[in-house]
Amino acid sequence: METKGYVDMHSHIIPGVDDGSQSLEDSIKMLQMAYDEGVRTMYATPHFGSGKEHYDATLLKERFSEVEKAARETGEEGIKLILGNEITYSPGVEELINDGTALTMGGSRYVLMEFDYGASFKAIYKGLQQIITAGYRPILAHIERYYCLNKKFDDILALRELGVALQINSASVIPKLSQEAKFCRKLIREGYIHFLGSDCHSPEWRPPVMKSAVDVLSKKTPEKYMERILKKYPDKLYNNEFI
Ligand SMILES: [Fe+2]
Repeated sequence: METKGYVDMHSHIIPGVDDGSQSLEDSIKMLQMAYDEGVRTMYATPHFGSGKEHYDATLLKERFSEVEKAARETGEEGIKLILGNEITYSPGVEELINDGTALTMGGSRYVLMEFDYGASFKAIYKGLQQIITAGYRPILAHIERYYCLNKKFDDILALRELGVALQINSASVIPKLSQEAKFCRKLIREGYIHFLGSDCHSPEWRPPVMKSAVDVLSKKTPEKYMERILKKYPDKLYNNEFI
């Protein structure tokens, strides 16, 4: 199966379950913005386990169905919405993934993982190793946020070699939206990164940009890397195939 358009694999589009969208109206606005940015497949990845949210799996599934319907009705082609979680790492969290409390990406072996921004490289490495040992394929969310990885190309490479897929927030490559834009563009230009995701939280704050990021990136990024992050890897994720 091939995906159409852009795939946004990180979003907080489901209302009232975390610090993302707070109303169905806002979710609908964000879906329209994503559609206009060329997104046709979107993973809804509400926070799991960060302690900041009131997580309720039953409520989440109900709200997901509402947003999924709205997504199907967005634009002419609609957006396909897939459920996952952005899982904050804690020791033993793989048990919660095993029993289905914390969700993988659309039921695949891929899990979107987040750590404290101040976590040490050793803690991130060991945590992700634990997730891999449990049989999952971790995607490290917004790698540009972790202080220990800032400009640390060797450490980022070590994570790749461990078997971790790496995601950057799409807005982070746009100079007027991010101080890390240069670093992020270099990582993408040199082929370190697997996925771009909007990590959208609201129509105003961290909106669902995608095409705007692609426009900035395509000036200097080799075609083969653009194709990988926009098409090849999102298709592998969608089909639960190994990257
Ligand atoms: Fe997020």
